[in-house]
Amino acid sequence: MSKPSTILVTGGAGYIGSHTCVELLEQNYELVVVDNLSNSCEYALDRVDKIAGRKLDYIWADVTDCNAMESVLENFNVEAVIHFAALKAVGESVRNPLKYYENNMAGTLSVLKAMAKHNVKKFIFSSSATVYGNTAQMPLTEDSPLGPINPYGKTKLMVETMLHDLYASDPTWNITILRYFNPAGAHKTGLIGEDPNDTPNNLVPIITRIAGGRMDELMVYGDDYPTPDGTGVRDYIHVTDLALGHVAALKKMTEPGVHIFNLGTGRGYSVMDVIKAFEKASSKKIPYKIVKRREGDAPTSYADASKAKRELDWQTKFGIEEMCSTAWQWQKKNPLGFKRPQ
Ligand code: NAD
Ligand code: UFG
Repeated sequence: MSKPSTILVTGGAGYIGSHTCVELLEQNYELVVVDNLSNSCEYALDRVDKIAGRKLDYIWADVTDCNAMESVLENFNVEAVIHFAALKAVGESVRNPLKYYENNMAGTLSVLKAMAKHNVKKFIFSSSATVYGNTAQMPLTEDSPLGPINPYGKTKLMVETMLHDLYASDPTWNITILRYFNPAGAHKTGLIGEDPNDTPNNLVPIITRIAGGRMDELMVYGDDYPTPDGTGVRDYIHVTDLALGHVAALKKMTEPGVHIFNLGTGRGYSVMDVIKAFEKASSKKIPYKIVKRREGDAPTSYADASKAKRELDWQTKFGIEEMCSTAWQWQKKNPLGFKRPQ
């Protein structure tokens, strides 16, 4: 019997990967996840199975190990790869750039080499709004100037460059680059959510932990930006909307090429807006203090996501209220994240 056509999801145990696996399973795709659990744990995949009511295949492997990737491609009939596996902490990437270049560049190289060898040529890449340079011109379109300023962002842009070169050398590749804005929130069941292995650096997980009593106080990085209330403005996107963006992109992979899409809501919220929305969703007070700006932060960043709407038939359904309420539900149901399985 021939093996069923399967989607390989690298980094599928992580925050965005696990939510994407749920949506793919619910739309009847067969999945194999490869993850080394460096920033996640296997319970997340049990929860994915539980939500979807069926099981995915999971292989522990490091994506930098090309032999391991080849063996996955030998054992499964992989039709396309969604490549989430990467390290993503901006500050750590400044302190330890080689770790980021190795994991994110060598990891992607090894996946692509194994794919080329096995003639699998559909690839969806997790890029980031961080590839855009610091520009006052908003919203950001896919053609806005590029210029990441930290090693993490540079790995994303370098991979994008590599993907353009790969397609130029072999125009049978079908590559989709998704530039995510600021993912937030959790699955509506409260069974999966964001659970980084170390202290979070991003706004919503920090606020969530403060509300849950795991952290004391939020440092608001600057209130002197040229924004309505002086705090930084970002385009927060519900992780389920983002996951559905991957399903939409996969369905539209009909033409070879390098296709680039912003995935965001097109709307910006300030740090103060997010604090207020979270306080409302959780009925908890979020203590905060204003401190100086964080180096490298842009005042404002939000997407023009009209290309994804036009070409992928995709648009966001959830707003900041659902992002806060689902993040809070995830925290309440899982006070220590996945560490204590239900
Ligand atoms: P995450 O850390 O929760 O998930 C990444 C997963 O990849 C983890 O499960 C980790 O264990 C795995 N992984 C890392 N290196 C690996 C390796 N060498 N081999 C195998 N597995 C490995 O992060 P996330 O928020 O789900 O992000 C997913 C992707 O989206 C990443 O590529 C990230 O850079 C990108 N992205 C994230 C954000 C964000 O704010 N969360 C924004 C833009 C882009
Ligand atoms: N902020 C605070 N205090 C904190 C954390 C964040 O005030 O403790 C502020 C930041 O200054 C910024 C906003 O909250 O104005 C959002 O900050 P995040 O760290 O949550 O997100 P960033 O926009 O800085 O960056 C994130 C990821 C990047 C990714 C980018 C776009 O960290 O990797 O979103 O997707 F590229």
